[in-house]
Amino acid sequence: MQKKDLDWGNLSFTYQPTDYSYACNYRNGAWEEGGLTADHNITLSEDAGIYQYCQEIFEGMKAYTTEDGSIVVFRPDLNAQRMADSARRMVMPPFPEDKFVDAVKQVVAANEAWVPPFGSGATLYIRPFMIATGNVLGLGAASEYQFRIFVTPVGPYFKGGEKAVKLTVPAYDRAAPMGTGNIKAGLNYGMSLYPTLQAHDNGYAENLYLDSKSRTYVEETGGTNVLFVDRQGRLVVPQSATDSILPSITRRSLVEVANYLGIEVDERPVRFDEVVAGDFAECGCVGTAAVISPVAKVEAEGVDVTFPDSANGIGPVFGRLRDTLVGIQTCKIDDPFGWVVKIV
Ligand code: PLP
Ligand code: COI
Repeated sequence: MQKKDLDWGNLSFTYQPTDYSYACNYRNGAWEEGGLTADHNITLSEDAGIYQYCQEIFEGMKAYTTEDGSIVVFRPDLNAQRMADSARRMVMPPFPEDKFVDAVKQVVAANEAWVPPFGSGATLYIRPFMIATGNVLGLGAASEYQFRIFVTPVGPYFKGGEKAVKLTVPAYDRAAPMGTGNIKAGLNYGMSLYPTLQAHDNGYAENLYLDSKSRTYVEETGGTNVLFVDRQGRLVVPQSATDSILPSITRRSLVEVANYLGIEVDERPVRFDEVVAGDFAECGCVGTAAVISPVAKVEAEGVDVTFPDSANGIGPVFGRLRDTLVGIQTCKIDDPFGWVVKIV
């Protein structure tokens, strides 16, 4: 198989259509068979539920080429599960979890030529999503949906690649208590676009959102969970009293990797004043797109905190975690957890 002729080492995190997407429609109360399509456009009624009341959910995953030329994906069962949770909250029909994993395998295998080569630093980003395609007018759920997956080769999520990033704390909230912060719905990202672009304009890679109820606790950024390493070398994992943090698969995997490596883990609500007091030596943004991106500083009105061990790049604890996680994801090291699924 001949790989596409792309400048793999210089890809950015942007969309380009590949050979195939996967599409499956829900009609008359059931999911149809579904399959691959070379058509990358969707034509819908102007009154489709996605346009009127924002019924949309999505996932993000990556496929990797291993040193021996195989292609693998990481824990697709967890993305299938989370997407089903998102669907239930948005009154959409959950896409069957085994069918989800099978669709991922089909679409990645069909686009084998687009999976970046081992060692290029690039990956194939996989974007499963679901939209309401049926008409709605009174506020209600549509009766027809499309589940779809496109794939696209990508480079680093944050501009500057491996460089440590800066965060700021916006005046805006990302997620309300009992809202939709714990699912992956497009509307969460639409409403955080304004503060995100403000952050970018001011030189920050992302916003660090606080809990919207008390504005006391650290939640996450617009597109990643946030983890810390304290001065004792423990991995500190912020938890939300209002269940408004997305259950990141990267974060949950890192907790297991930390346990495996003998790194102590402290999962608890984290007050922003602990961050301000300088209690943490390292900070990282974690997620599928961002992997583990070191955070150098958090700046906000009256706040200027530097994380000394991640100020100039990945720190010692996150470095070990990242090497192990990425090593497992790319089959450079043995997968003791059974997380990696071989496609080709
Ligand atoms: N938090 C938000 C708001 C996200 O959009 C993402 C991206 O998926 C994450 C966290 C990280 O989740 P995961 O590790 O499952 O990609
Ligand atoms: C991902 O990490 O896969 C996401 O969906 C985050 C998104 C903001 C790019």
